[in-house]
Amino acid sequence: MEEAPEDPNLLDKVINLAKRRGFVFASAEIYGGFRSTYDYGPLGVNMLRNVKQAWWTAMVQNRNDIVGLDAAILGPPAVWAASGHLETFTDPLVDCLQCKERWREDKINGVCPNCGSTSFTEARAFNLMFKTQAGPVEGEGATAYLRPETAQGMFTNFNNVLATTRKKPPFGIAQIGKSFRNEITPQNFVFRTREFEQMEMEYFVPPADAPQWHQYWIQQRYDWYIGLGIPSDKLRLYEHKKEDLSHYSKGTTDVEFAFPWGFDELEGVANRGDYDLTQHSNASGVKLEFFDQATNEHYTPYVIEPAAGATRAMMAFLLAAYHEDEVEGEVRTVLRLDWRLAPFQVAVLPLSKKPELEGVSEGVLAALRPHFMCDYDVTQSIGRRYRRQDEIGTPFCVTVDFDSLDDQSVTVRDRDTTAQARVKIDDLLAELRTRTGQR
Ligand code: GAP
Repeated sequence: MEEAPEDPNLLDKVINLAKRRGFVFASAEIYGGFRSTYDYGPLGVNMLRNVKQAWWTAMVQNRNDIVGLDAAILGPPAVWAASGHLETFTDPLVDCLQCKERWREDKINGVCPNCGSTSFTEARAFNLMFKTQAGPVEGEGATAYLRPETAQGMFTNFNNVLATTRKKPPFGIAQIGKSFRNEITPQNFVFRTREFEQMEMEYFVPPADAPQWHQYWIQQRYDWYIGLGIPSDKLRLYEHKKEDLSHYSKGTTDVEFAFPWGFDELEGVANRGDYDLTQHSNASGVKLEFFDQATNEHYTPYVIEPAAGATRAMMAFLLAAYHEDEVEGEVRTVLRLDWRLAPFQVAVLPLSKKPELEGVSEGVLAALRPHFMCDYDVTQSIGRRYRRQDEIGTPFCVTVDFDSLDDQSVTVRDRDTTAQARVKIDDLLAELRTRTGQR
């Protein structure tokens, strides 16, 4: 199996595959599309759920010190005034004086990407929050905002979570959900969109311990991507310069991925200090503090925040997994996704549509389905079906053939090596669990 060198058309190929096989569709396509919004198709929704589940498993399920939350998307202006978003969550907007296109000043290096002009209006601050109205009556009291980050729900519920879980610092609150930003220049497929999903965790620590927890979480988050198959030469850490920090941050290190246009942010790990809890305490009049019984003191914890994008991470996993190699003299496309991320883990393929084979296949499916997301495909030649499964990253194909009727065995084919092995149907689940490192 020979590997092709790095492909200059990788982005186009992945976008094309995503559309052709049902990972990601342009939103409202039958109406000509709606710029920068995307719908996740039958395969994409599986994969996106798997990315989020892998995060939840690492951040909540496998830990004693982190609990989950699912807060509202709509919020009143008071939250966003206190968080600083109303005032400072802006990008510098310029208009090209020649072609009138609007750009984010800090992304274009003084040259209009549309017409090449270097003449622009003065930059003005453009707030990225989507403003809407809650209820039927317009007016100040009805204004609401779609959250631009999931984080604030974790700060405003700080006391609720403390009271109901009896956690104490260091402890974290984790949340996965949609966020919305009116990006001036959404671009690069699902990398930067106006509607996207975040996976964020606010880790509350005694202030003196914040620097070491910051380093801990940078390393944890880097390792999470490596553990799910991103090669280390495609990942790096980037520490923000002081002058570039967000309004709440005392220090941020990004985990960056080698996207086709260069290294770019996958996730930010910030030390938010006591900024948010203090702001919300002051604005609401409700103290958001921790009472330390050991020292008999109240204090405001510092927050370390690993903030990832689920949709952006899915794109990185797709890009890293996309390969073209040669099998039996033919080029094949294969997504070498970690089995936990693949839309289907197993495809059950009866060699023909004969009812006796379909009967056995259905039994195999019934045995595997509680444990793995399975596809079932009876159309086309077996070779074509293997290629179709390789292209969507299915790690294992299980073929039921006429010998299966006699020997009660099936063929298990490995996506990456294409090696095939005969396995007793009774041993199949155990075999797949072993191969996926589950026992
Ligand atoms: N609470 C902190 C926060 O929101 P951020 O760096 O602005 O920090 C965190 O966002 C992550 O959310 C980013 O690293 C990225 O993965 C994702 N993200 C942010 N804006 C996005 C957008 N417009 N489209 C897709 N993903 C986005």
